[in-house]
Amino acid sequence: SMVLFNEVEESYIMIKPDGVGEIISRFENNGFKLKGLKLFHCPKQLAEEHYKDLSSKPFFPKLITYITLGPVVCMAWEGVGVVASAHKLIGATNPLQGEPGIIRGDLAVQTGRNAVYGSDNPENGKREIELTEWTPVQTPWLVE
Ligand code: TYD
Repeated sequence: SMVLFNEVEESYIMIKPDGVGEIISRFENNGFKLKGLKLFHCPKQLAEEHYKDLSSKPFFPKLITYITLGPVVCMAWEGVGVVASAHKLIGATNPLQGEPGIIRGDLAVQTGRNAVYGSDNPENGKREIELTEWTPVQTPWLVE
């Protein structure tokens, strides 16, 4: 689809079960608005819906097992350019391709255990955020 600049986007960020202790602070102080945050054990059915575009891939069963191993923390972030910004912070699918300061490069070594997810594009951000029921959060310290 067409790339629109200066549009407010939403990105769905999911800290996978083994990254929960480390990652939330990496998303703070980037000027984006935190719209929701939730700790929950993702049901298998929701994990499959979230990753439905990958359902025919050979690694799909392992991916679903990983995501449902324990609780994840998911976040809904809003702002201009938030999808690309979060994607950059998260890094390449293969953690070994990450530079220092990039979450997956710092905290993970395997593609199949890469610690965090972020939406690929604004449409997916919206779709993925809508799959979850959110506890809204207030961020009054952020200037509108
Ligand atoms: P993908 O959406 O391609 O990557 P990303 O998470 O960077 O957007 O794939 C989703 C997840 O599937 C990926 O984070 C890890 C897993 N995966 C594998 O286990 N093996 C693979 O070869 C690929 C491409 C992905």
